[in-house]
Amino acid sequence: MTRRAAIIGTGSYLPERIVSNEELAKTVATSDDWIVERTGIRNRHIASDNEKTSDLATIAARRALEAAGIAPCAVGLIVLATTTPDQTFPATALQVQANLGILDCVAFDVQAVCSGFIYALSVADAMLCRNPDLVALVIGAETFTRLLDWDDRSTCVLFGDGAGAVVLQSRSDGSGILATRLHADGRYGELLHVDGGPSSTGTVGKVRMKGREVYRHAVVNLAGVLDEVATAAGVEVAQFDWIVPHQANLRILEGTAKKLGLHSDKVVVTVDQHANTSAASVPLALDQAVRDGRIVPGDLVALQAMGGGFTWGAAAIRW
Ligand code: ACO
Repeated sequence: MTRRAAIIGTGSYLPERIVSNEELAKTVATSDDWIVERTGIRNRHIASDNEKTSDLATIAARRALEAAGIAPCAVGLIVLATTTPDQTFPATALQVQANLGILDCVAFDVQAVCSGFIYALSVADAMLCRNPDLVALVIGAETFTRLLDWDDRSTCVLFGDGAGAVVLQSRSDGSGILATRLHADGRYGELLHVDGGPSSTGTVGKVRMKGREVYRHAVVNLAGVLDEVATAAGVEVAQFDWIVPHQANLRILEGTAKKLGLHSDKVVVTVDQHANTSAASVPLALDQAVRDGRIVPGDLVALQAMGGGFTWGAAAIRW
């Protein structure tokens, strides 16, 4: 049987501090009703001042390795998706490597904002195809709230911090990644961006977004790429047992499912609990659905995401 890169363990981590919509409404001109009605978000987790993206990532990675029954020293590749690295360099993946006590492996970061995890998974999948003996850790981790302008109510209510991870290993039992599809269109950078960076302003910058236009593109792109990945995997969209989308906004999730004619029961939703955690959101939702027993061996699972850039992508996986 064909060898494929399979997800053999998942893990995630959310920082301890939970901030509810009501708590936010004490400092920003917003309300629980507005946020829930427009986005479905109820809570977000915020990393403490001394918690870095690599700390969140390391806990999620340890949990994924434990679930897979794999020792850290067996890991040969770490691909970490983040928009909020600990430092400009070295890559956050290397800090995770050091935290896990891995002496030598390939480790690097991927930056595709909210689509980062799908990009990272796709890169690791390609590397495992070349080297089937490799064990890979693919991580999405963010301290995204560090990029927020807490005076801008149109963005600060939407995001949170967190991390999710998966362990990939080659399998020949029919399970594994069947197909991935990635896209980018740099013409839309201004619609969702950070107004800083090392080579432009020399500052980190804050998130700026034209929400309504992002929403419009999101539904079209997400529905399109799911269709595309289903075709590449040789299945019908209706055959997916579970869709695990980027957790940005409940209305985007419902709008995409409707456009594809999918029942909303098939869509894993966790955005209410942790808001938009950018690259961490897909593996966070995936870990929850695996641990609570929704996703079981044999299931056909689709992951999909869209983020700033724009970037977007999807993966079809036989669990
Ligand atoms: N609380 C109360 N009122 C608010 C808030 C808030 N937090 N934010 C904006 N408003 C007000 C606006 O000021 C505006 O008031 P006005 O009519 O008096 O000018 C009004 O609400 C409507 O503003 P819009 O921006 O038009 O509201 P919209 O219905 O488009 O909802 C939202 C905004 C939720 C951001 C929506 O556009 C959206 O979900 N966009 C997608 C953005 C997204 O998810 N981005 C994440 C990254 S990309 C991705 O992950 C897919």
